[in-house]
Amino acid sequence: MEFQTLKYIYQPANRVGAHTLLLLHGTGGDETDLLPIAQEFGNDFNILSLRGNVSENGMPRFFRRLGMGIFDEQDLTFRTHEIVDFLTKLSAKEGFDLTKLIALGYSNGANIAGSLLVLYPDFLAGAILYRPMQPFQKIDLALKNTKQTPIFMSNGANDPTIRPSDTASYVDILKTAGFEVANHTLPIGHNLSREDLRLSVEWYHKHFN
Ligand code: MLT
Repeated sequence: MEFQTLKYIYQPANRVGAHTLLLLHGTGGDETDLLPIAQEFGNDFNILSLRGNVSENGMPRFFRRLGMGIFDEQDLTFRTHEIVDFLTKLSAKEGFDLTKLIALGYSNGANIAGSLLVLYPDFLAGAILYRPMQPFQKIDLALKNTKQTPIFMSNGANDPTIRPSDTASYVDILKTAGFEVANHTLPIGHNLSREDLRLSVEWYHKHFN
């Protein structure tokens, strides 16, 4: 299968050398979904928001799944390479710095961002993962991030789709690989809350301003 381009929205910042917030929506969302959330982080970064290339009964996603929380890992691998290829070409076209990408993903978007961390461990400058799941059942223990890349995660204690023990082992794997992970468990479910935003905005300013 050939790589395809992705639909996107790009909004450049008014300054040179800015980071780029890479927005990755959840299942059934699109490239407009997370724009209001990005605004909460300020306005000194470029915004690049993607729409996933996979359709599940008309709902956009970033990769196929075989069931709830059961990922088609072959497709996930292909789609991850496809996004890296797309971003590399797009950075030349739009003029953003490929080394200054901070992913911000919700649910399915957090999971494709997690796959980027695993398959391209030094590619992202940071990642905000709301309601993430471990992208691959088995992750090579030789996984190595050489930049202590900061990762923010927030999960819901009452989220029926994600087991807390699975999150704990995912966090361990990322930490062991060298990522600097800040993980929060909130007393809520799968939906985003003001507290997710408050904590992630605070984390962002600590690491990137
Ligand atoms: C996924 O498929 O990525 C997760 O199950 C989250 C979701 O999109 O529902």
